[in-house]
Amino acid sequence: MKEKVYIIGAGHVGAETANELARKDFCDVILIDIVEGMPQGKSLDMTHANPIRYISPNLRGQNDYNGIEDAKVIVITAGVPRKPGMSREELLDTNLKIMKSIIEEIKKKNDKAILIIVTNPLDAMTYTAYKLSGFERERVIGMAGILDSTRLRAFLAMELGVAYEDVSAITLGSHGDLMVPLPKYATVGGIPVTHLLPQEKIDAIVQRTRKAGGEIVSLLKTGSAYYAPGVSVAIMVESIIKDKKRVLPCSVYLKGEYGISDVFVGVPVILGEKGAEKVVEMKLEPDEMEALKKSAEHVRKLQEQIDSKL
Ligand code: NAI
Ligand code: 2OP
Repeated sequence: MKEKVYIIGAGHVGAETANELARKDFCDVILIDIVEGMPQGKSLDMTHANPIRYISPNLRGQNDYNGIEDAKVIVITAGVPRKPGMSREELLDTNLKIMKSIIEEIKKKNDKAILIIVTNPLDAMTYTAYKLSGFERERVIGMAGILDSTRLRAFLAMELGVAYEDVSAITLGSHGDLMVPLPKYATVGGIPVTHLLPQEKIDAIVQRTRKAGGEIVSLLKTGSAYYAPGVSVAIMVESIIKDKKRVLPCSVYLKGEYGISDVFVGVPVILGEKGAEKVVEMKLEPDEMEALKKSAEHVRKLQEQIDSKL
């Protein structure tokens, strides 16, 4: 029997995550949304693609939490996205209420699942889920670093005119303007990017990466990115369910790693069947460490705001 993955919030990101998981065909996917008929319609539409794709995932949509006690992984993508000119932080009050109601429902039925949070502001919403669920930190993980890193990789590949798959790069920190892209560790086919591009080009790419979510919001005008986010969530789910132990940047609750405590921030972790099984500590330069700490302090302030509202 395949493991069950529940996705709460069948909007753009939720549906794209479901579609990518369906295409990979290793789990059953259940979409939940408050909009009647919508998760049912989307999952039926995806099911119609199964014969063409030669795959057979069970896909279902619903407006309640029936069956969620069997979920191995629960992805939360419910919440409002940004509009042009808005920061992710401006979503806090609305999405806090949504996150609270969802965690209350989950807790009634499932205290074993691994939660992947996608809703923005990402690190703060992951903290909310952690605090309200009472789950251990390994099982409450935020998705953002994979997206921010793949954006950095894509921009580097575009600039160099090389195969995307040969570009490796990592972005740490909070999901926002204070993220910490690390071009020094980026490589193309094993060659450091710093050997291939002048510093000013690298700096411009780093800046574009920081603003990439906003760039898409201003182009779309009615919402935010969802294709790359959906694929990013799916690789987290896959690494957990297949116990692949992939090393991926995710937002996790730090307890002294990187000299940071009691705050969610993006760092490399080993993702396996138990969730974020280990934080991988890399040796950062003083300026990189300072940037990571600044990012963490920004999230800490949001966490304090949340504490006062819960
Ligand atoms: P969307 O508006 O397309 O979908 C959100 C869905 O949540 C809607 O279908 C809505 O009906 C549903 N919803 C609202 N309250 C709910 C509840 N209580 N229970 C179940 N469903 C509920 O938005 P989109 O584009 O899918 O984005 C979702 C969230 O993910 C936003 O907060 C966005 O900012 C965030 N996001 C985060 C990313 C990241 O890297 N962490 C990347 C992309 C989006
Ligand atoms: C992004 O970076 C919306 O946070 C999301 O595209």
